[in-house]
Amino acid sequence: MQLLLKNIKQLVTVSADGNLMKAGKDMRNIGVTENASVFIEDGIIRWVGPSKEFPDKMKKDADVIDARDYVALPGFVDAHTHLVFAGSREHEFAMRSQGMTYQQIAEAGGGIMSTVKATRAATKKELKKLAAKRLDAMMKHGTTTAEVKSGYGLDEDNEVKLLEATKELESEHPMTIVPTFLAAHAFPPEYAGRHDDYVSAICERMLPYTAKKNLAKFCDVFCDKGYFTVDQARTILKKAQSLGMESKIHADELENIGASSLAAELSVVSADHLEQITSEEITKLQKSGTIAVVLPGVSFFLSHKYADARSLIDVGVPVAIASDFNPGSCMSFSMPLMMTLACTQMRMTPEEAITAVTLNAAAALKLSQKIGSIEAGKEADIVLCEIPDYRFLAYHFGVNLISKVIKKGTILEFS
Ligand code: NIG
Ligand code: FE
Repeated sequence: MQLLLKNIKQLVTVSADGNLMKAGKDMRNIGVTENASVFIEDGIIRWVGPSKEFPDKMKKDADVIDARDYVALPGFVDAHTHLVFAGSREHEFAMRSQGMTYQQIAEAGGGIMSTVKATRAATKKELKKLAAKRLDAMMKHGTTTAEVKSGYGLDEDNEVKLLEATKELESEHPMTIVPTFLAAHAFPPEYAGRHDDYVSAICERMLPYTAKKNLAKFCDVFCDKGYFTVDQARTILKKAQSLGMESKIHADELENIGASSLAAELSVVSADHLEQITSEEITKLQKSGTIAVVLPGVSFFLSHKYADARSLIDVGVPVAIASDFNPGSCMSFSMPLMMTLACTQMRMTPEEAITAVTLNAAAALKLSQKIGSIEAGKEADIVLCEIPDYRFLAYHFGVNLISKVIKKGTILEFS
């Protein structure tokens, strides 16, 4: 199977020259070529360059797309989602519009717990159907890889139900899916007053089972006021690391309780959120090589402060942008919308935003050796947009500008 994209009006490669991520000024270096070609064989990119240099003998029976009207970019990587859930929380959205805060709603029994109730009541089949529909819509918006967290089960059977649903979708859906174990998302009501017992259940039973069955690549913990303490998060993440799992952390979202310092101490792959991070902690992340995953959709949706992406980049922390798609704090999975918010609210440039949703996001999933840029040898995940220039994507917001999605070399057909 061969596919040639020729005469591409503007190709954005985000080429990394062998590096696995970009930091500092290099985040602006996104490799733009006018009138370019990309040649794909068996799902892998074989050749990238100016159209006039393409060696015609390479293409034997290739399908050809004349892309003179399109800007081509790497498919987007959404490195932080809570995609598998039942129910919805528009009533909380309405309450927030009247001034109630996310924390007040959670304390009154809403928030994560209300989604846990609905998700526990749903079957694996029902959850898969809901999630597959969301994955379809994400792909239409240009996302070709998504991380998917558990965390709305909060007991052994229900967390396994979510992870198995995710695992099955991984083989049934064209989206590349990266599963993350997040039983440490909140304390279930059964463990009221004995939170450390839930931490023990996670470490002694849930994590070993997840690792043995290979149900998740990452372990994540919501380390924040009212959720998991730094000590509890450390215990869980160290256990996960000892079982060979990669680690991430929800850090400094609601309050700063020291979660990003823990991220640096444990050298987790990514620290996500960071709305409340201090400048000392930014330096610690830079030293530990941890990737910062910022989630501007959450700040927008909850009317919270935005993470200081400008300082993170200027200090040299590699920054990725993700949606955090979930029914409570960000009911959107549009990566172009997240880019708009990053540019307007976090003072990121359009070039930095593109790097943050492609190569650096792939690095936050430890996948950037395979995806995240348009380079020979990588999987052919490419989006084509009928726009005049790559900067138009974040500029013209609130509409879907993705014209075609190529996933592992196949042009996706949408119903
Ligand atoms: O990333 N911070 C914790 N978890 C989600 C919110 C989940 C929910 O409200 O259902 C987040 O913001
Ligand atoms: Fe989250």
